Amino acid sequence: MASNKSPLKVLVIASEVEGLVKTGGLADVARALPAELVRLGHDVRLVTPAYAKTRAVWSQWPHQSLCVHLNAFEETWLATRTGEHQGIPTVQIEHSDSFDRPGIYDNGATPYEDNARRFALLSKGALQWCRDNDWQPDIVHANDWQAALACFYLAEHFRYEPFFAHSRSVLTLHNAAYQGQCSSGWLRTLGIHEQFFHPGAFEDHGQINLLKGGIRFADAINAVSPGYAAELLSDLGSHGLGPIFRERADALSGILNGCDYGQWSPETDPDILAHFSSPNDGGKARCKALLKQELELAEGEAPLLVSISRLADQKGFNLLIPALWETLRSTDAQVALLGSGDANLAAQLHRLAREYPTRVAFVEGYDNALAHRLEAGGDVFLMPSIFEPCGLNQIYSLRYATLPLVRAVGGLKDTVVPLADDGTNSGQATGFMFADPTPDALITELHRLIRVYQEQPEVWLDMQQTAMKQRFEWATAAKDYVSLYRKLLKVPRH
Ligand code: ADP
Ligand code: GLC
Repeated sequence: MASNKSPLKVLVIASEVEGLVKTGGLADVARALPAELVRLGHDVRLVTPAYAKTRAVWSQWPHQSLCVHLNAFEETWLATRTGEHQGIPTVQIEHSDSFDRPGIYDNGATPYEDNARRFALLSKGALQWCRDNDWQPDIVHANDWQAALACFYLAEHFRYEPFFAHSRSVLTLHNAAYQGQCSSGWLRTLGIHEQFFHPGAFEDHGQINLLKGGIRFADAINAVSPGYAAELLSDLGSHGLGPIFRERADALSGILNGCDYGQWSPETDPDILAHFSSPNDGGKARCKALLKQELELAEGEAPLLVSISRLADQKGFNLLIPALWETLRSTDAQVALLGSGDANLAAQLHRLAREYPTRVAFVEGYDNALAHRLEAGGDVFLMPSIFEPCGLNQIYSLRYATLPLVRAVGGLKDTVVPLADDGTNSGQATGFMFADPTPDALITELHRLIRVYQEQPEVWLDMQQTAMKQRFEWATAAKDYVSLYRKLLKVPRH
């Protein structure tokens, strides 16, 4: 068994990885954490599907056949492609029936009906790759529902395999609202024995719930912020999984995500047009002016409120859209939004932009470079999420002196210090926060921040300076993960 100093073998399984395929923050973490573990000297393998979208990368990598048994009745032949992604030893699981499709999770409208099997092949394939290559993992680190079955397969399918006898599993919850539900008709295919189809494991209102099964079988579970970990224990914040989280409360912790400051720093960011190291050295003002020009917003001194987001109910658009109508009516604020996702939310944002062509810009789509220019050019970052496991954009915003306006939930509460009601916490305050999930509560805070912006420029500048100094380093988060891994290796399997 590994000593307290010896490098660990960590198998990280994730359905998306930044630089290969990304739909949200999971991808940022699935690249940044393994990269940091490699820097700390650990032996890491990052396992992810070989999607059609990344063919240009994996088709160049050496190929090996892999036979996987999801159940006792059938075998599936996969291939693995091994290479290096941004310094991380990476294994992509190739199975054209499953992954050679235009989408990652869905066909643009509905999730693929065989998603459970697709990601079961990822999970089992990752473990089988270890066996075939005699690479004994100390830790199997599964991310979200797509990899949750790896915790079950390790605990049950490989229960009596000496090869995995000392391996322990960690399930990280980036977003427990997505649970990988499917019909119980999939039990046999996935190799889930009837004995595990009960409310204490995979069963959920008559269906299979893969995340729930993962929570049951993982040796440790962690949420991506302490705030979210606490919420998962409550009925309101647990996305219907309160009982199983409470049952596993001893195994549940929170580890706050980090930020890759190599990518997100206004001093060096290659995607922004002027660099800055302080909010008032001219660089940020130039970024704002150029952004407004690019988005054809009117010139002037008005505060610019920005947002970069998946268009999903989670992100609080049902509060934000009415709050923006009201704020645009009653103040001179300008708004710049970037997002893709829900067509109905997109239509509502287009309507707002049509109504206020010189004050509102809405770019529908996914555009990483524009995301950087918005972070640099905005005055305020809007993130009124209904729930937020961690949230990365508010952390990026702090670094760019774009003060976040957040709702007091999950990771937002853990990363933003709100300006006190009496405004006395100068040197500490980094943003604005409201609690009630109502448009009115958001409007009140929006009006307040606009007043501070316009009437108390010295308070605003002080907050920007404090915000820019905040650091959420991956080095810190990775050390917390390593402590969790080492703790697990000292105790018997769950
Ligand atoms: P979530 O993972 O819930 O979507 P996070 O704040 O953790 O939220 O991470 C979102 C990540 O995806 C950030 O890196 C953000 O910049 C990026 N992102 C989201 N939507 C877009 C978009 N439309 N264009 C560019 N980047 C986006
Ligand atoms: C999820 C969450 C987000 C978190 C990200 C990375 O997509 O919605 O809050 O920051 O994962 O952990």
